[in-house]
Amino acid sequence: MTHESRATFGSKLGVVLATVGSAVGLGNIWRFPYMVGENGGAAFLLIYVLCILFLGLPVMITEFFIGRHSHRNAAGAFKEIAPDSKWSVIGYNGVLAAFMILGFYSVVAGWTLEYILQAVTGSLSNKSAAEFANDFSVFSTGIIKPILWTFIFIALTHIIIVSGVKKGIERASKVMMPMLFIILVILCVRSLTLDNAEKGISFLFNPDFSKITSSVILSAMGQAFFSLSIGMGCLITYSSYFSKATNLQRTALEVTILDTLVALLAGVMIFPAVFSFNIQPTAGPELVFITLPNVFGQMSLGSLWSFIFFVLLALAALTSTISLHEVATAYVLEEHKMSRRKAALLVSGGILVLGIISSLSLGIWKQYTIFGLTFFDFLDYVTAKIMLPFGGMLICFFVGRRVDKKILKAELTNEGSITFHFFNTYAFFMRYVAPIAIGLIFLNELGIIKWINGIILQ
Ligand code: PFF
Repeated sequence: MTHESRATFGSKLGVVLATVGSAVGLGNIWRFPYMVGENGGAAFLLIYVLCILFLGLPVMITEFFIGRHSHRNAAGAFKEIAPDSKWSVIGYNGVLAAFMILGFYSVVAGWTLEYILQAVTGSLSNKSAAEFANDFSVFSTGIIKPILWTFIFIALTHIIIVSGVKKGIERASKVMMPMLFIILVILCVRSLTLDNAEKGISFLFNPDFSKITSSVILSAMGQAFFSLSIGMGCLITYSSYFSKATNLQRTALEVTILDTLVALLAGVMIFPAVFSFNIQPTAGPELVFITLPNVFGQMSLGSLWSFIFFVLLALAALTSTISLHEVATAYVLEEHKMSRRKAALLVSGGILVLGIISSLSLGIWKQYTIFGLTFFDFLDYVTAKIMLPFGGMLICFFVGRRVDKKILKAELTNEGSITFHFFNTYAFFMRYVAPIAIGLIFLNELGIIKWINGIILQ
């Protein structure tokens, strides 16, 4: 495929919305609250925000540079910028991560479809908190239903991917993102007016510094990468469709702010309700699915609200699965010279297999574990906490070592037509701070720093 014949996003708003669409998804509304809950609340939030600012933002700008500069997919981009080098391994890491994330993400996305159906049939009303928890557990550990929903979700993603970049992705994102935002604000207000709401707010915003451990830091970093869709070439792929006029710095800043805002809103929506209904904040992946129906139950026209919310959540998930699928499809299509239809079919088939295994690993295959984790948790752990930060670290190394600063600056300022006030600060963070910090967090988690300290202190 020649560069000229590649699709581009239509409007300026479309670019930002589609990229926000990739970033905002289950990561913000499902994964973020349960990570906060499992990792001690506000202390996690603090580290998360630091990771977003000092690691996430520089990596995102760097991915935008790579994508738009090369006009290629996640793996091809590295071959284009640094031919005959091994850097395209970053892209392969990304393509593999896309498959693995879709393997568990589609399962959770499928759960949102079940909840839409339950809202329509009225089975979400008049239940106690314990009944909601029990019903979710019965459903998610079952066999046929969750697999069927996973299949339907993958099929929806597949259809949009095959219909082409511009039409499908852009049209979908434009309408849904603002709607999701509005409904989150409404749900926050409802949640904040519940009994004991202040306990949830304190959990979310009052840090207990003694809770900060190496595993909390790794989780926060992983969540930052996962939520911003960075470290795996997704934003390289998307920005390869950006036009030459797109302001990359501003787009990165807007996406980061919106993504963080949605996660914060999700936290404010969930935690007051968690404390009000006596749900354990450490409940894990089921947290949102057992908390929210209780909130809707406290609202007049609760079923209608839950219907609207889960439709929007499903759509937010869809704009993220589209972006993940596109990483893998664009790679297969461009590097293996296949038609879009065939490439997409191959990718969808692979995801379905992973999706079935990870869904069953929550129920009848629970006893089969990898490093003590179910297949579902394993996919989540390896991608968010290892592959994405590792990819981000390599992306920074790559641009820091292989790209002339002048070329970098020219791309990020649209050949000098816009200013980049903080270019030197950005370059410093991208070259040194981000890769070193990510490396240190890995070493710390592996216990290597403690080990070296022990040797020095002996
Ligand atoms: N950022 C998405 C979310 O928060 O739901 C998930 C995701 C999409 C991760 C695309 C990685 C990615 F490349």
